Amino acid sequence: MRAIVARDRAAGIAGLAAEEMPYPHAAENDVIVQVYSAGFTPGELDWPATWTDRAGRDRTPTIPGHEVSGVIAELGYGTTGLAVGQRVFGVTDWCRNGTLAEFVAVEARNLAPLSAGIDHTMAAALPISGLTAWQGLFTHGRLEAGQTVLIHGAAGGVGSIAVQLAREAGARVIGTGRAAHRETVLGMGAEVFVDLDRDRLERIGEVDMVFDVIGGQILCRSAALVRPGGVLVSIAEPPPSPPDNIRAVFFVVEPDRQGLAELEHRLRDGRLRPLIGVTRPLEEAAVAFGPTHGGGGKTIIRVIDDVPEIVGEEAVS
Ligand SMILES: NC(=O)c1ccc[n+]([C@@H]2O[C@H](COP(=O)([O-])OP(=O)(O)OC[C@H]3O[C@@H](n4cnc5c(N)ncnc54)[C@H](OP(=O)(O)O)[C@@H]3O)[C@@H](O)[C@H]2O)c1
Repeated sequence: MRAIVARDRAAGIAGLAAEEMPYPHAAENDVIVQVYSAGFTPGELDWPATWTDRAGRDRTPTIPGHEVSGVIAELGYGTTGLAVGQRVFGVTDWCRNGTLAEFVAVEARNLAPLSAGIDHTMAAALPISGLTAWQGLFTHGRLEAGQTVLIHGAAGGVGSIAVQLAREAGARVIGTGRAAHRETVLGMGAEVFVDLDRDRLERIGEVDMVFDVIGGQILCRSAALVRPGGVLVSIAEPPPSPPDNIRAVFFVVEPDRQGLAELEHRLRDGRLRPLIGVTRPLEEAAVAFGPTHGGGGKTIIRVIDDVPEIVGEEAVS
């Protein structure tokens, strides 16, 4: 099968190339997904799990990408709950070959059904960004209606979903980013936009929650904005030394079929709209991998072009 392959950690993005790779093996409780669309995280070539297995052993050559939307081609031994030919989307294991390929082996529990009529491109933009936003706001942050949440990087992959979910949950949302992000962030439901290059963060006042996707100085300065008893949730890095009177949570997103189903429901009824930037064919995925692709939104690799589908009763039941 065709895949984007990384062989040399030191070479970074320049070392990515489209190559022939063996068809993946479906282990117990796995499925093989024929990939229609795939997503990746720009920084994943820096993750240890991209290069090693769970025991820390070298596993090169590796295939990056951990978000998939596609159709089940094969079931592993003993796999139940999903069927060959079914449309699915989800997250693949950090320590296994990924989704920038024609086929990928995934644990079935990491996938959720995808209704007919939802474009694979939209679905591939959701698994990591959507689950991270969901878990950050609700699982770890315990956001409630009426609270105020400050979301950094609100026009990005995670931030843009977080803004929409928080707004839907009845929270007051303050979004931050660069000047060019203002209209996007306000358009997704933020009440206030803060330009991190020009506006003073400290003028925001106290909030119930900060959801930070940027890290560094922005994260450090944000702890002081959280009211006593509030929460600072971060995903880029742990906060260095948060005050004792707030809760600070750094986490890595977990696969979650129920969470995917919640996101899919919102995609289907229009409550959620992932920001898609550029889409590229698999052969151009190496070029697209860099973080500076020029536009905003998430880059999606289209391995198979979607055939338009008719939405029938089955799709919405
Ligand atoms: N822990 C986890 O489970 C988890 C899960 C998902 C992602 N992550 C990490 O979280 C981070 C964000 O992921 P993402 O997918 O949302 O990335 P993304 O799509 O690049 O979004 C980040 C957003 O923040 C903006 N931004 C970054 N630095 C800024 C600054 N100094 N001032 C103003 N705006 C700034 C970016 O704008 P520009 O594009 O203009 O820079 C972009 O809009 C990454 O480091 C990723 O690896 C962690």
